[in-house]
Amino acid sequence: MSKIVFLSDLHLSPTHGFFWDNFRIACDAANDAMAEAVIVTGDLCINGPDSDEEMDFAARALSRLRGQVLAIPGNHDVGDEPPGQDPAQIVDGPRLARWDEAFGADRFALDVGAWRLIGLNAQLLGSSLPQEVEQMAWMTQHIDGAEGRPVALVLHKPLFIETAAEDQPTASSINPAPRAALLPLLEAGGVKMVISGHLHASRDRVVDGIRHLWLPALAFLGSASHGGTPAIGALAVDFSGPEAVVTELPMPGAVAHDLAVLKEHGRYKFLRDMPPCPPPAEQTVLDDAAE
Ligand SMILES: [Fe+2]
Ligand SMILES: [Fe+2]
Repeated sequence: MSKIVFLSDLHLSPTHGFFWDNFRIACDAANDAMAEAVIVTGDLCINGPDSDEEMDFAARALSRLRGQVLAIPGNHDVGDEPPGQDPAQIVDGPRLARWDEAFGADRFALDVGAWRLIGLNAQLLGSSLPQEVEQMAWMTQHIDGAEGRPVALVLHKPLFIETAAEDQPTASSINPAPRAALLPLLEAGGVKMVISGHLHASRDRVVDGIRHLWLPALAFLGSASHGGTPAIGALAVDFSGPEAVVTELPMPGAVAHDLAVLKEHGRYKFLRDMPPCPPPAEQTVLDDAAE
């Protein structure tokens, strides 16, 4: 069995611990799953673009996971590509450098079972940063080198919500222009699957010959307006055969947090604006990392 565990949208913070218990439960489930690797598909933080401490906290939190761990960034880690949902947190060089310092890299290529998995930094797509061009060349090289293996692309944001023809810029998915540049490369390169987080919702369907798998979040439920099913959880995917087989990890006791309730129905715009409510001291990452 060539199993990979996917964890997405952790939204951890040393000052705002709303989702720490869900993360602990997911860690236990991931460690019990005995997978070849754990892939973390972005939004590890709440305020990562502006907080060294939060990025460091998230990196140390991942040390609870056994075995190989591969993390790629989301908008709450390195900022959004423009125009973005928060103009104060647009991806830039220093934010990318902060991520690299904490996690080592913002992309990966991994052969598992019959497949090649290619993880991208979604926040570069449409950023106009020099790293965007460099990543596209890197991706093309690794798709071309798959030598007949089906390729699964892994990134924080979905390529689109309903169809590739969507033409309005949105913070919910990859924007139209970078999507138009990316899709022909995927189709030419034999990409069979796209695995994404960000929307905090589950969905698994084939569009134009590519299977699009949306991952549930570890933190809070997404909006039902995006077509998927708002969901808390974590998935394992078996890549041993030509068809990837998806199963849900058991997460007993995980709480399906409602973001509007947490933010007191508009009293706070962002979670980072809320009064501090750190994780319980006895559960801190430092203590756990020392185990
Ligand atoms: Fe998220
Ligand atoms: Fe996100």
